[in-house]
Amino acid sequence: MEKKYHIVTYGCQMNVHESEKLAGILRSRGYAETSSKEEADIVVFNTCCIRENAENHAYGNIGALKKLKKARPAMLIAVGGCMTQQPGAAERLRKKFPFVDIVFGTHNLEEFGALLDRKIGRKKAVIDIWDKEGEVREDDISFRTSYPNAWVNIMYGCNNFCSYCIVPYVRGRERSRAAEAVVAEVNDLLDRGYKEITLLGQNVNSYGNDCGEVSFPQLLRKICARDEKFRLRFMTSNPKDFGEELVRAIADHRQLCHLIHLPVQAGSDRILRLMNRKYTAREYLQKVEMLRRIIPDCQLSTDIMVGFPTETEEDFRATLELVRAADFSAAFTFVYSRRSGTVAADMEGQIPEEVQKERIMRLVELVNAQTREKSLSYRGKTVEILCEDYDDKKRLYMGRDEYGRMGYFTSEQNRIGNFVDIHVTDSSGISLMGEIVAKE
Ligand code: SAH
Ligand code: SF4
Ligand code: F3S
Repeated sequence: MEKKYHIVTYGCQMNVHESEKLAGILRSRGYAETSSKEEADIVVFNTCCIRENAENHAYGNIGALKKLKKARPAMLIAVGGCMTQQPGAAERLRKKFPFVDIVFGTHNLEEFGALLDRKIGRKKAVIDIWDKEGEVREDDISFRTSYPNAWVNIMYGCNNFCSYCIVPYVRGRERSRAAEAVVAEVNDLLDRGYKEITLLGQNVNSYGNDCGEVSFPQLLRKICARDEKFRLRFMTSNPKDFGEELVRAIADHRQLCHLIHLPVQAGSDRILRLMNRKYTAREYLQKVEMLRRIIPDCQLSTDIMVGFPTETEEDFRATLELVRAADFSAAFTFVYSRRSGTVAADMEGQIPEEVQKERIMRLVELVNAQTREKSLSYRGKTVEILCEDYDDKKRLYMGRDEYGRMGYFTSEQNRIGNFVDIHVTDSSGISLMGEIVAKE
């Protein structure tokens, strides 16, 4: 009988894509996917540690497997990703959950197959965390399940050390992939019928800084030289390095979506300085202005954090003010979470939970109001949706417009992987409802 794997993923899109790589490795060893842990021969947890609740979530789910492991001792449990890459985390995990069979980190994720081979037929757990970055791999080992969308790494790691952030510690220094390898991977995906490509890096604007030659805007131009219809997105762009050359590249190529994710984090200059973000609120807004001048129909999304150490009511109000001024279409909002090992973790003036909670509620209220307003402006318009999936419950096809907004519609035909024009009939929530506009 075929062996089965089940992968549980936490965290960002980078992790989601890395789970596709783990799936590729498992399939090359004869495993097939199962949606049930009970049926799996191996369960892999690909973890995140960006905030405390991400870790608690993983801990809870790993702990919940204890019974199953007792009933089926041959089932393997593997834990890897950002959480296990933190100093001492592997030991803590093993102490708490001695039934875990394999522990790996971020730097050896692509070596997972070798770890699995080592574990098979051996009683002792295999624990292997590298403290140094591994070689950048250029071949695509992933088994993709997100058609018609695909993720492509352009770089790994981060050099920015924002004072609250654990990523540089668990992902190592910036390493860029070779431009030819990125272009070849994208071309291969397009040949295979993928329609939307998202380039991934913690700060895509520093692409190429470590190896010279091709800058990020140049990389985008190389990809878009393939003159056909597809969508190209990227995540994430750090405002400190966001410049006109990049905006010009976006304006020049129809494949580049006019939604830019530009995480601002805070609106108070004092807090931005303590965060080590290297821009002021004014500089941020000037960049937004430049973007809107060159690409008038551009929309903006962002990440914002409240309750950073020493944040006062006045600082928080500056954040609200900036949210109004920048007119974001969408914002991911977070309560600051103290991450051991980061500079901010040792700062005086950590903010009490009640204050953080009160502020996040006020922020979310403002952000939601803005998103709703944007939604209403969609009514009666025709938008182009890339159909991604069929929602069995709603019995509707679904997909996103260029700005990332989810749209639903009915269709007799299977539309997955097609660009479809819909006339928006309702947009009261965050998503759109529409009817297909007949095409000649
Ligand atoms: N590289 C990206 C961010 C990756 S993390 C960038 O620089 O924009 C995604 C988001 O998580 C960040 O933008 C930030 O808003 C949030 N985040 C990071 N560390 C956090 C922490 N310690 N507590 C709460 N939110 C955090
Ligand atoms: Fe974290 Fe800052 Fe790097 Fe983004 S740029 S991953 S927030 S350190
Ligand atoms: Fe991503 Fe979480 Fe790691 S956000 S980079 S999976 S810490």
